[in-house]
Amino acid sequence: MKSFRIALYPGDGIGPEVMAQAVRVLERVQAQDGRFQLDLTHLPWGADYYFQHGRVAPDDLLEQLRGFDAVLLGAVGDPQRLPDHVTLAPLVRIRQSFDQYACLRPCRLFPGVPSLLRHPHPIDLLILRENSEGEYLVCGGRVRQGQAEEVAVQTAVHSRGGVERILRFGLKLALTRRRRLTMITKSNALRYGMVLWDEVLEKVRGEFPEVETDRQHADAAAMDFVRRPQRFDVVVASNLFGDILSDLGGAIIGGLGLAPSANLNPERTAPSMFEPVHGSAPDIAGQGVANPVAMILSSAMMLEWLGLRTAAEAIRTATEAALAGGAKTPDLGGTLTTADMTDQIIKQLEEAK
Ligand code: NAD
Ligand code: IPM
Ligand code: MN
Repeated sequence: MKSFRIALYPGDGIGPEVMAQAVRVLERVQAQDGRFQLDLTHLPWGADYYFQHGRVAPDDLLEQLRGFDAVLLGAVGDPQRLPDHVTLAPLVRIRQSFDQYACLRPCRLFPGVPSLLRHPHPIDLLILRENSEGEYLVCGGRVRQGQAEEVAVQTAVHSRGGVERILRFGLKLALTRRRRLTMITKSNALRYGMVLWDEVLEKVRGEFPEVETDRQHADAAAMDFVRRPQRFDVVVASNLFGDILSDLGGAIIGGLGLAPSANLNPERTAPSMFEPVHGSAPDIAGQGVANPVAMILSSAMMLEWLGLRTAAEAIRTATEAALAGGAKTPDLGGTLTTADMTDQIIKQLEEAK
């Protein structure tokens, strides 16, 4: 039997609530499949850990995580008790240190789910976010701190190699889908970094003649996500643009509670990490009403990455069937609790068996 070591990092707020549900689903699908074994290790990192140990995660977190086959993360952030840049630092560090440069954020509108848009069908786009550099690289500083003359500099770093590899990854992905790639740029204003992106696209797109490519400035793309999302297939964006478009993508498919994501190290030189797009949702934490679907679909992306395609597909099919059958947490206009929603998904898994 194939066995996989999975690190669970539930985090803060609704993170542990939705993680518990994903674990229920994973355990069920593992029992039904019978051909693989998941060895789950729970890591109690986050704001509570900080108040016991003086840091949100141990200093050697990367060494600890390196031995795992994958990391499954809930959500981090407890803004009432700790500044976000403290609680969130391990997340960004894991993505960058493990070279998880390809962040996949699929946005599909499932039957039965209400969209914010008036004419939404069909929405099936895939945001590919550059996840290792760009605006998120820790590069900058502050001088004359606290004084009226203070200056803060935060530099975005775009490397030719970094842009080339994410565009190639996106073009390959497009070949498995509707063969269209839109690159998000803002080269009308950001004349160094984004012009580099434009030039690199020109260079690498010739290697993929079957893929139709175009470019769109980030502001116009935001408008088209709302106005005509059908125009998009694979959407490649820098780290920050990809982040912003991901929440918009979540909103148009019915809410962030439905949007999964995968932070991939395509060369598999370090573990990849899977997490919902959403955060710790302090406004609903502790009430047992968070939608677990984004977390559950993220765990399906993890199984797929581990080569467990049948099990991943079983989770996706059961989740879609539950939604199509009208299962709704409050964010979707329903009354189900987090656990009720998972019950509906597990019921579908059992019926499909
Ligand atoms: P958020 O994603 O936590 O919440 C935004 C809105 O979406 C809230 O109204 C929330 O209730 C709703 N929502 C999110 N997930 C939901 C779910 N599963 N079910 C139902 N409703 C859901 O964003 P925020 O409020 O800007 O951030 C809260 C905290 O999370 C902050 O500390 C932020 O820095 C952090 N954050 C963490 C991650 C992450 O861990 N990957 C991502 C985004 C934000
Ligand atoms: C996300 C989040 C993170 C990001 C935060 C928590 C650092 O918003 O995963 O989308 O900006 O990447
Ligand atoms: Mn985000």
